[in-house]
This record gives sequence, structure tokens and C-alpha cells, in this order.
Amino acid sequence: MAPSSTNRDRRRVVLLPLPYQGHINPMLRLAAALHSRGLAVTILHPETRAPERRKLPADYRLVTIPDNIPPEVAASRDVASFVFALNRNCAAAFRDYLAGALREEEEGEDGHVAFVVADVDWFVPLSVARELGVAALALMTSSAVRFLVYLAYPSLCHKGYLPVQESNFNIAVEELPPFVVQDLHLVMDKTRHLAYTDLLAHIVAGVRQSSGLIINTSEDIEGMEIERIRSEIALPVFSVGPLHMMTSSSVESSLLTEDRSCLDWLDTQRPNSVVYVSFGSLVGIDTDEFLEMAWGLANSQRPFVWVVRPRLVHDCESSAIPGELQQKMGNRGRIVSWAPQQEVLRHPSVAAFLTHCGWNSTTESISEGVPMICRPLSGDQMGTARYVCDVWKVGVRVEVENQLKRGEVQAAITRLMDGKEGEMVRERMRDLRHVVVKCTSEGGTSDVALQRLVDSNI
Ligand code: UDX
Repeated sequence: MAPSSTNRDRRRVVLLPLPYQGHINPMLRLAAALHSRGLAVTILHPETRAPERRKLPADYRLVTIPDNIPPEVAASRDVASFVFALNRNCAAAFRDYLAGALREEEEGEDGHVAFVVADVDWFVPLSVARELGVAALALMTSSAVRFLVYLAYPSLCHKGYLPVQESNFNIAVEELPPFVVQDLHLVMDKTRHLAYTDLLAHIVAGVRQSSGLIINTSEDIEGMEIERIRSEIALPVFSVGPLHMMTSSSVESSLLTEDRSCLDWLDTQRPNSVVYVSFGSLVGIDTDEFLEMAWGLANSQRPFVWVVRPRLVHDCESSAIPGELQQKMGNRGRIVSWAPQQEVLRHPSVAAFLTHCGWNSTTESISEGVPMICRPLSGDQMGTARYVCDVWKVGVRVEVENQLKRGEVQAAITRLMDGKEGEMVRERMRDLRHVVVKCTSEGGTSDVALQRLVDSNI
């Protein structure tokens, strides 16, 4: 087939997302932002959880590469094993693809591959691209401070902060204020801790050898953290987020089908009255936590939309709510298996977001000015909750000793929705929203950084 002039004339970016919803979303948002600034887009994706072709804009290329990963490994919560297997199994196919693209470029059949962007977790492709002489940048889909944790991990282990022990939970981490030990990472099992430490060492080494680091954050909300990264890695750093605000063209990237009926239901609710509850795409909670959450919502007497996705409750086949509790909830709640989250957060009836503090959920909440009720559970979420509650002060925490107990969710909802503290939180959230709107608008720090990336000759 004769190549189209569009293909030949445009610089091309090849993007390689990690196949998790929380990583696919920011990578596809970056794709849309680069595309809107004139770059042609190729999405290179392992077969596992590959996006559907029909959902992507017509002129994107989607190339799926075999990963030979059994579905049970891909679905397990053992992220380190999955990421190592992906890097191992996809290396040859990635090399073949990129070498082929370079040949076509040389023969004048296709445009110039300007650069590759791979999730930081793709450490092997980052080094393969480098071997083939293609500039390859790493995308950190989470916060800048999370990347600082990655950089500090070996020394944090050496100093005995990690693996986390319950007796040390509240000890201040002097190297990373205002973190305490439990904000770092809750891997307490020794074997999993070793695997995770090994993974982070590979990630950091991959980034250090890349052509630059792109972070889904903004100078205006994590300026000091970004400066510190710059001082620790001798690479260009582009803070171009929050990425969902960087272009008006949206890309449909949900792996699950959205239940849009909750938007109609929200239309029937009073402005500023509803609590939206979601724990993202990955974490699992046990039945006790699930039921306490349900009691908290029921007893709060507030209307709510709650995302109970498949496998949210990990020790139980069904996440059914017992009859007594259902009665207590009456018609005040709407449970869906997956929501159009950004539209829900934008809805005028929504007053608060009870969240696990995934980085995407957090930045989506900030961009809509919705204050948060934080119940972080794993990974980067504890650190993000620390920033939400104690640095930006745009949310309150569900105060939990150990296991979630009756009254704790209700108390957090009341603190945010009724008290003086809630008023101050809402005011600060309005201010923070202005900050992110400004930095992602024309001439703002993220807008300028994105243009610098597009124009750069890395
Ligand atoms: C994971 C980690 O848990 C998170 O901490 C890390 O920052 C990224 O990887 P996840 O748990 O899925 O991500 O949370 P989050 O980062 O919030 O991403 C979830 C995404 O799914 C968001 O973009 C959100 O808008 C979307 N979503 C969630 C929906 O579209 N509908 C829903 O019902 C729930």
C-alpha cells in the first residue's frame, strides 16, 4: 500500500503504556496532547488489556505485541512478577517493531520516529530504543514525590525504614518530609519487598539511561520535588500534567464499560450533596472493609454514587450488600460497576470524593475542585494522601487504627461536609483548582513544558 503523505511528513511518537488502567489513561492522554500539537501517534501495546482499535482516533496506529503472559499472571496483584515478565517477553517484539519502523523511515515510506515514550516500568524497551539510536523518554504516571521515593529506595532500605514494620509506622522520614514511614510503601512481606526493591532498581536504572523523564505533574503543585529530581538525575525533566487537562480532545481508554446511568441519577440530586466513592481499578478490599464502608455511607445519610467494580472485594465471590443495610440505604445510593469518573466529578451534585488516592483520581478531583475523603490502601496512595491532607490540605483522612471500624467513614464524611474544617478544605480546593487550571492553560508551566518536549531534539 502506498504510504500517505501525512504519514511521511509528520514526526511520529511511539508510546508504550503499561497495561493497567491507572497507567493506560495518562499515557493515552499524553498521546492526545502530543497529537494535538502535530505529532503522529503509534500506540504499541502488549496483547494483555490492549485498547480496542475502534475506540482510538482514526489516525492513531495501534500495534499489539505478543506477551505470552498467562491471564492469571496478568490478573494477579503481584505487580512485580507481571512487570518483569512483560519486560522479558516483549523485548524481542519491541526491537523488531522499532527496527522495522526505522527501516521504513530510511526508505522514505514513513515519517521520522521523533521519540519513544515508555512507562517507567518498561525498563527493557527503554534500553532497546537507546541501542537502536532512538531517543526514548520514560513516563512517570504518578507524582514527582513518588519518583523521589523510587530514587531513595535503596538508602531507605539501608537506613532500616524499609521494609515497613508496624512499630515504625509513624516515624518521620527525614529524607522525605513530610512523609512518615507508612507513607512510603506498605510491603511488609519480605519476599514481596525484595521483588519490589529489585523492580525499582531496574526502573531507576532504565530512567537514568533514558533520554529524559516526563512526569504527570506540574511545577506549580510539586515544584520542589521536581527540582530535587533534576538535581539527582542528569536528564531533561518535563512536568506536563495533570495530563487529562492538557488537551480538549479525549481518548476513550476505559477497559471496563462505563455505566452512564449514574449521571442521570445525579441530575435528580441536590447541588453539592453527593459523595462519590471509588477505589480505582486495582486495589482489593476485604469483606469487612467493604461492609464498614457501606455502613459508613448508610449512616452518613448522604446520597452517594459508589463504584463497586468486579474483584473489588477480594475474599468473597459476590459483593452483595446485606438486606438490613440495603434498607438503611434506601434510595439514597447508586452502585455502579464502573463510572464515567471525570464526568461524575464534574457534576454539580457531587460534593466530595471518598477515594483511595490513586494519582489519576487525585488529579481528576483537583481539576474539578472536589474535596477528598482519603482512604489510601497501597503503593503510592499513602504518600498522595499525605500531600492531599497535610500539604495541600484539600481533603480529610478516614482516621483508622488498623481495621476500618464502624463510625470512621461516617465521621470523615461529617468532618468534610458539615464542619468548619470542611469549609476551609473546600476553600483551599478552589484555590488549588485555579492553580492547575492556570498551569495547564496556554503559557502555563505544563503547557510550556509540553511544547518544549514537542520541539526538543533529544
Ligand atoms: C494504580 C494505582 O493504584 C495508583 O495509586 C497509581 O497512581 C496508578 O496506578 P488505580 O488504582 O486504578 O491506579 O487508580 P487511579 O490512578 O486513580 O486510576 C484510576 C483511573 O480509572 C482514573 O483515571 C479514573 O478516572 C478511572 N476510573 C476509575 C473510571 O474511569 N471509572 C471508575 O469507575 C473508576
